[in-house]
Amino acid sequence: MLTAEENEILTRVGPQTPMGRMMRRFWLPICTSAQLPEADGDPLRMSLLGEPFVVFRDTDGQVGVLEELCMHRGVSLALGRVEQGGIRCLYHGWKFGADGTILDTPNHCNARFRERMKAPAFLVREAGGLVWAYIGPKGRQPEFPHYAFMDGPSEHGAVIRLNTPVNYLQLFEGGVDSSHVGILHSNQANPTWMNDEFTAREDEDFNPGALASGDNAPTLDIEDTAFGFHYVAKRQGPPAADGNPATSIRVTPAILPVTRIIPAPAFQFFVFEVPQSDTVTSTYIIAHGPKPIDRAEIIRIMGLKEPFWNDEDCDFRADWANRLGQDRSRMKDNWTGFDGIEQEDAVLAMSMGPILDRTREHMVAADRAVIHLRARLLESVRRHEEGEAPIAHGLDLADVRSLPDTVIAQDDRWQDLVPGNLRTGRTAMTDKARP
Ligand code: FES
Ligand SMILES: [Fe+2]
Repeated sequence: MLTAEENEILTRVGPQTPMGRMMRRFWLPICTSAQLPEADGDPLRMSLLGEPFVVFRDTDGQVGVLEELCMHRGVSLALGRVEQGGIRCLYHGWKFGADGTILDTPNHCNARFRERMKAPAFLVREAGGLVWAYIGPKGRQPEFPHYAFMDGPSEHGAVIRLNTPVNYLQLFEGGVDSSHVGILHSNQANPTWMNDEFTAREDEDFNPGALASGDNAPTLDIEDTAFGFHYVAKRQGPPAADGNPATSIRVTPAILPVTRIIPAPAFQFFVFEVPQSDTVTSTYIIAHGPKPIDRAEIIRIMGLKEPFWNDEDCDFRADWANRLGQDRSRMKDNWTGFDGIEQEDAVLAMSMGPILDRTREHMVAADRAVIHLRARLLESVRRHEEGEAPIAHGLDLADVRSLPDTVIAQDDRWQDLVPGNLRTGRTAMTDKARP
């Protein structure tokens, strides 16, 4: 349970808010590379942390991120023409390069005016199938982030985006809440729940709901790391060959401010909950692994399909007018009446309302990682407000891993199976990462 003030600090992300200031110190995804498929293609109207932007790919393939409204008299550049090395406003034809250079002002012939001014433009990079922007204070960006999914052949990764009309924290909390996996996601985790038995699913490389144990009350161990924390959910596993009790563990890292890595048997799911605003969140799921990936199969497991979602606008649609799309006629052999993991997560987060009142909860031991996520986010905000670098700023995150369900002996240390998590951030931060 939180105070009303803590809930406000955690959930408000606009430019004048403590969380908004902290998040602005990071590179964040603003769209996928696939949404800008061609040079001089249609520009995108995107929001990040409560501010509107236009995103476009110029004639040379370079991506530009500018303030949405034209610096002349405020028409949306998202209606503009993308041509010959820039984006041109429809109203009076002012034209801007990807870096904000003013290339043309047809209604004002003074060249020196163009040279003196610049349109508000932001730093942009493309990596891992995402377009990343830095919209924070000038010169205070960290090193560009490095995640494991940015390495290796591109066919070993798949990027999926969905935009859900809820605050980011409701979605992020679901990502560090292991105890819901075997219950909410029964259809993927425990399809034999109707018989009161547990049968582990096999050969499901892409299924993050694949549990190895039917124990629905995991105990959690949490350990702080330089990037935030990682935690293990320990479930009672099948007895070992020698008859001794064994524990099935699943490790999830939470990388502040918006990322976690969810394990599937052979793949890692990097999930970013990027606030478009206080009440809309873009979830970017990047599945990555040691072999080629079947994106359509992942979309199927996630339950992302019409009428809830399409791959074009990526908006997640569900409405109480038809019970958020729930099909209750299926609930005899389908736990939720929904189709897949991400559909279930998004619908349940929406059912809480746009911003949950966290002063009225009743937390239990299985919620400890959720409680810890809030504490670490508040700590990072406090540090940043006091002039320090926020948690995870400037770290190389390439060695951070999750661990899918793995049976270990009771005395084994789970941390030894994810050695990169504790190693990350041990070396000195770069100068740019300092406050
Ligand atoms: S408002 Fe854009 S050129 Fe005038
Ligand atoms: Fe979930």
